[in-house]
Amino acid sequence: MLDILRKRRSVRKYKDKEIEPEFIELLEEAPLRSPSSRNFRPWRFLFITDRAKLEELSRAKTSGSSFVKGSSLGVVVCADENESDVWIGDCSITSIILQLTSQSLGLGSCWIQIRKRMHSSIITKSFQRSNLVVL
Ligand SMILES: Cc1cc2nc3c(=O)[nH]c(=O)nc-3n(C[C@H](O)[C@H](O)[C@H](O)COP(=O)(O)O)c2cc1C
Repeated sequence: MLDILRKRRSVRKYKDKEIEPEFIELLEEAPLRSPSSRNFRPWRFLFITDRAKLEELSRAKTSGSSFVKGSSLGVVVCADENESDVWIGDCSITSIILQLTSQSLGLGSCWIQIRKRMHSSIITKSFQRSNLVVL
């Protein structure tokens, strides 16, 4: 674990290469093993590999997300806030678990803040209860 922690950095440039399906399966499993307050597990995960959708996501906010368009996988981490009053903590834990699992598989990733960020100077988007981890 310490080795993974020492090597992890936010990575914002990605190889033009698909992620192996076996790796995607592991990345789907890992966050579901996260702890959550009262074991309510309020999270939902959207795994996005479609390049056109990743390009759309790269425009989710005004800055700090443009590099999503060069990624092979985006995981939108969202929650139903009615299921737990501490869903932000629960989602943050799953997001870092996802990032550390990626690191253990030799994949670089970056967390992108979406919640409370504007899509443009006047518009918010429908992902306001979510964050994004891209690989
Ligand atoms: C809650 C949170 C939100 C973040 N949001 C963004 C973001 O929107 N865009 C981005 O490029 N990096 C984002 N990051 C990555 C941080 O900039 C990065 O973790 C920090 O600069 C430390 O660098 P390191 O991850 O390489 O150690 C975020 C990280 C966290 C934990």
